[in-house]
Amino acid sequence: MSNTASLRPQPVASEHTPLKARNVAFDWADTPLHWIPGDPSSTHTINVLHLLLPAGERWFVHVYKQVLPSIRDEQLRADVIGFIGQEAMHSQAHDDVLPHLKALGLDPAPYTAQVDWLFEKLLGDRTLPPGRARRWWLMERVAMIAAIEHYTAFLGDWVLNAEALDAGGADPTMLDLLRWHGAEEVEHRSVAFDLFMHLDGGYRRRVRTWATAFSALVFLWQRGTRFFMENDPTLLDGKAAVKDFLRGGRQGVLPTTGAMLRSIPQYLSRTYHPSQHGNTDQAIAYLDRSPAATAAAAPGGA
Ligand SMILES: [Fe+2]
Ligand SMILES: [Fe+2]
Repeated sequence: MSNTASLRPQPVASEHTPLKARNVAFDWADTPLHWIPGDPSSTHTINVLHLLLPAGERWFVHVYKQVLPSIRDEQLRADVIGFIGQEAMHSQAHDDVLPHLKALGLDPAPYTAQVDWLFEKLLGDRTLPPGRARRWWLMERVAMIAAIEHYTAFLGDWVLNAEALDAGGADPTMLDLLRWHGAEEVEHRSVAFDLFMHLDGGYRRRVRTWATAFSALVFLWQRGTRFFMENDPTLLDGKAAVKDFLRGGRQGVLPTTGAMLRSIPQYLSRTYHPSQHGNTDQAIAYLDRSPAATAAAAPGGA
C-alpha cells in the first residue's frame, strides 16, 4: 500500500448494513422528571438531547434532501435515503418528550425557540444566488453534519454500553428511547461521513467544520443543562456544575471527559472512518429486542 493510500479513510466493510426507519412510539405517562433516580444533574445533562435533536435532526433531513440529486453512487443514495428516514423518526420521538416535561412543570419552549432559530435561520439556506456561494454553504453544512454524526455515534455507542444506567434504576422507557436512537446512530454512523467524502472530502473543511460543530455542541450543551437545572420546579437552587458532570462520568451515568477528549483526534485523523468505532452487531442486537422497535415491527404495530 502506498503512503498516499494509507492516509485515506479506512472503512471496515463488515460494518455496513442496509438502513430502514423503525416507526416507534413511546408512552411517557409513567416517566418521572428525574428519570435517573436521585440524580437531577445527570438526568438533565442527557435531557439536553430532547432540546437539540428535534430541530437538529430536522435540519439534517432538510440539508440532505438538497444534496440527494448530486449523489452519483447508488449504494450511497440508498444509505442517505435510509438515514433521512431514521433521522426524521428520531427528531419526532425526542419532540414527543417535550410536552411531558412541560406537564411535569419544566417548560422547554424558551430554549427550543432559540435552538429552532439556530437551525432554521443561522444554519438555514440563506438567500444565496445559485452557483458557487450556494454550493459552498451546502458543502459546509454537509461537513458539519458529518462532524455532528461523529458525536451522535459516540453517544450511541456509549448509551448501549452504559450499564450504570440500568443499575441505577433509570426509567425503562427513557432508556429504550436513548438506546433505540443510539443503536440507529451506530447503525448509520458511516453515512454522513461517506456522503461528505463523496461530495467534497476536503481535509481543511473537515477540520474547520469539526471545530464549529464541537464548539457549538459544548456551548449548547452546558447552556441547556443550566436551563433545565435552573427551571426545574423541584430544585430549590438548581445549578449546573462541572463537578456534577465529572461525577456522572465517574459513576458511568454520563460519558467521561477522557472518552470525549479521545474522540477528537479520532475524527481528525486522515485515516478515520466511522466504521472503525462502535459495533453494528451490538446495535442491531439491541434493535431486535428494543420494546419500542419490536412493537413497531409487530403486525398492527405503530
Ligand atoms: Fe438521530
Ligand atoms: Fe444520525
